[in-house]
Amino acid sequence: MRLQEHIVSTPSGTGSAGPAKVRIRHLQDAKERGRPFSMLTAYDQFSAQAFEAAGIDVLLVGDSVGTTVLGHDSTTATTHQDMLTFTGAVARSVHRPLIVADLAFGTYETGPADAVRHGVELIRAGAEMIKLEGGHAIVPQIQALTQAGIPVMGHLGFTPQSVNSLSGHRVQGRDAAAADQLAEDAVALQEAGASAIVLELVPAQVAARITEVVHVPTVGIGAGPSCDGQVLVWQDMAGMSGFHGKFVKAFGDLRADLQRAAAQYRDEVTERSYPGPEHSFD
Ligand code: KIV
Repeated sequence: MRLQEHIVSTPSGTGSAGPAKVRIRHLQDAKERGRPFSMLTAYDQFSAQAFEAAGIDVLLVGDSVGTTVLGHDSTTATTHQDMLTFTGAVARSVHRPLIVADLAFGTYETGPADAVRHGVELIRAGAEMIKLEGGHAIVPQIQALTQAGIPVMGHLGFTPQSVNSLSGHRVQGRDAAAADQLAEDAVALQEAGASAIVLELVPAQVAARITEVVHVPTVGIGAGPSCDGQVLVWQDMAGMSGFHGKFVKAFGDLRADLQRAAAQYRDEVTERSYPGPEHSFD
């Protein structure tokens, strides 16, 4: 069987390993074959390695690192240097997943030359594809990036870097005109050269329509089941963040597990039962 026939997101336990390295063409193949692929954010070595071992196809070093790791309350605070640091950490730690990194707020809105300069630095840090937020307004940036040989993932719907102009975290594209605009933006990103498009906080039927209209894969977050792939912030997926938005399913209870382990450690230290003789040197 050819590698492409295994494609991505082979259910765990089937014994089918999938491609040795996930490439953009595998995501395209997945769309054409109607086989959804999985994407999670990742920011550090051990979580990235756990996601690779679980068979996650795409790791997104999201600018959400600012709100999930660095303690900011908006991704607008995440810097380009943050993105370089965390992209490098993930890229050095895994082999199989496709690695996508975000262009930070303020590094591409100023024009195509800035987008390419910062995109090149992210690729040098280990990214294999660059994600940036916005519709028609960033078409010149996407054209410049793809002409420079940098693959692009677009991001439409709720775009967190625009949280202030969008007046908070709100579902986008609810009325007919806004839905039409989203579909037009998606086509514009594709025509500009984007190889995939994230759709965030978009009504399920609007995301389904866009997924039908564009030939590149869509990746949904709060965009219903019809997208070609799905993405979640890993701390939401694993029950670490405590965020219970409607679109989130916690597949674990990591925060409670960690708290239990830390409390047991504290108890054993205060009772002098840890470290025991087996943890001590003669
Ligand atoms: O930065 C991020 O985590 C993202 C996802 C929400 C898609 O852009």
